[in-house]
Amino acid sequence: MPAHRLETPHLREIISNTRSMLGLRRPRFLRGPRLPKPAVAPIVATERLRLRPHEMKDAGDWLQIQSNPDVVRYLDWPVRNAVESRRHLKHRTRHTVLLQADDFLALAVEREGQVIGDVSLHLRDVHSKIVEMGWVLNPAHGRHGYATEAAAALAIFAFEHLGACEITAVIHEKNERSIALAKRLGFVGDPQRMLLTRERFDSRPALAYLTDETERVTTGQIPIVWPQPIAE
Ligand SMILES: CC(C)(COP(=O)(O)OP(=O)(O)OC[C@H]1O[C@@H](n2cnc3c(N)ncnc32)[C@H](O)[C@@H]1OP(=O)(O)O)[C@@H](O)C(=O)NCCC(=O)NCCS
Repeated sequence: MPAHRLETPHLREIISNTRSMLGLRRPRFLRGPRLPKPAVAPIVATERLRLRPHEMKDAGDWLQIQSNPDVVRYLDWPVRNAVESRRHLKHRTRHTVLLQADDFLALAVEREGQVIGDVSLHLRDVHSKIVEMGWVLNPAHGRHGYATEAAAALAIFAFEHLGACEITAVIHEKNERSIALAKRLGFVGDPQRMLLTRERFDSRPALAYLTDETERVTTGQIPIVWPQPIAE
């Protein structure tokens, strides 16, 4: 049987999972064109959050997210136990550089010392500089705009430091909160493939901004502070 007949999506997934479990990755020389320079995971301070690479000390916080069925409902992640969640986190700690197609970069979203979520970029096309963005939040910290703030900071990184032309997001059609988040950032299109350009991001609608329990003040942009130079 020709090799390609064996490569059903299911089998591809099994191969990919096995490779990832064994820590095996396709060698770089087989992975096509490269960006002129790698985009390395930054440390970013936003007004209320810190985004930075994952660390194994986050295992407890990561398990809270990974073991919650509500978090994974619309993701292709299983509900993970402590061992599985640690293994998953270990992989995430290694995903810190974008250079070639399908490279993946993930940042922990930290608030007051606790990891409350994750935002990520997949480099999909090196020539067109298209990246796919993902976001996940511990539901205990939902509805404060943290996920939007973190994703906005990562979008700025993608546009300014990676030179991305377009950011995409692939969202389950029933995942209303994720679709709402994407729209807050300026994404347009079908949930299956939402698109964000720099122009739309810069002209995104003002965010409803909660300063305390009772007062809502409308501000234009979320301030982003870069606390240190981006590592090259
Ligand atoms: C998708 C997901 C991250 C969205 O979480 P969220 O809590 O709705 O998003 P945010 O943290 O940005 O909070 C936005 C809400 O906070 C409110 N808010 C409060 N203070 C705010 C502020 N200062 N700034 C912005 N929004 C604020 C917004 O009005 C909005 O509320 P609304 O939903 O009632 O309109 C979360 O549902 C999740 O992790 N889901 C599981 C993982 C998943 O499916 N990921 C997507 C894969 S494509």
